[in-house]
Amino acid sequence: MLEIFATHEWNDAFSDSLRQQAIQNLEHGKILYFPALAFSLLPEEHLFLSPDIADPHAKNVSYHPTLRKLWGVQRLTDAERIQLQSMLDRFSRYAQQLIHALLPHYREQLTLARTSFRPVQISQRKTSYRKDDKRLHVDAFPSAPNQGKRILRVFCNINPQGEDRVWRVGEPFETVANRFIPQLRKPFPGSAFALRLLKITKSYRTLYDHYMLQLHDCMKADDHYQQQAAQQEIRFPPGSTWIVQTDHVSHAAMQGQHVLEQTFYLPVEAMDDASCSPLRILEKILKQPLV
Ligand code: SIN
Ligand code: FE
Repeated sequence: MLEIFATHEWNDAFSDSLRQQAIQNLEHGKILYFPALAFSLLPEEHLFLSPDIADPHAKNVSYHPTLRKLWGVQRLTDAERIQLQSMLDRFSRYAQQLIHALLPHYREQLTLARTSFRPVQISQRKTSYRKDDKRLHVDAFPSAPNQGKRILRVFCNINPQGEDRVWRVGEPFETVANRFIPQLRKPFPGSAFALRLLKITKSYRTLYDHYMLQLHDCMKADDHYQQQAAQQEIRFPPGSTWIVQTDHVSHAAMQGQHVLEQTFYLPVEAMDDASCSPLRILEKILKQPLV
């Protein structure tokens, strides 16, 4: 389930064999785990470790590192916003360094997406089942279709009180897909165009996006599955970092507060073995192209 790396520096160099092993493990659904890779806050950044800075209507504090745009915050002065942006910028750069050093094959085709900060305790969060990340799921975004691209994420637990980030990790993607495929419905004809026209989606919702969303929703809706599916608890202590493809790895975040996260998108063509991708696995099962 985990491949463990001893590194404690964001700009460490990795040997060819370690890189090869990392890419293979990641693509086959393992989590790359760095128990000693911490992100240090500057003294003036500690004030951000509070749920009060997060807009209760947004799930997370989000930052777009290329556009330098911050959202999902409240009650911050202009100076504090700038300080928070610079903290998220620093984390984003570290996450990029790590990915570039460990997965150089991906570098050319990787897109840098959102950085997030999650200062709200997840065990107490009440939401609809669809938005409830305490239920096992694979990631799929209703308004931001990714059209088959992989979702690669770097997480770092920065909790100052010693609290672990507690995840459950479920079955391999192909097992999950085979189990839920009989329940998945086809999209209504023309629905993808309508969603785009009404600006509900930011880009065209492909068949792939449609089925991934259905899979995400069906997994979360199934109480029996949530309890009975093969799964394992993983605890990520403060000062640890992990890399995971969350479109592929069935996961649920059960407990914890204060995590940083950087998202990247990767076309399946850039993978070492694209047959491991959710896109190719779903296409194989459904016997049709999905993008
Ligand atoms: C998720 O992607 O479901 C949440 C992960 C986390 O915040 O730890
Ligand atoms: Fe998720």
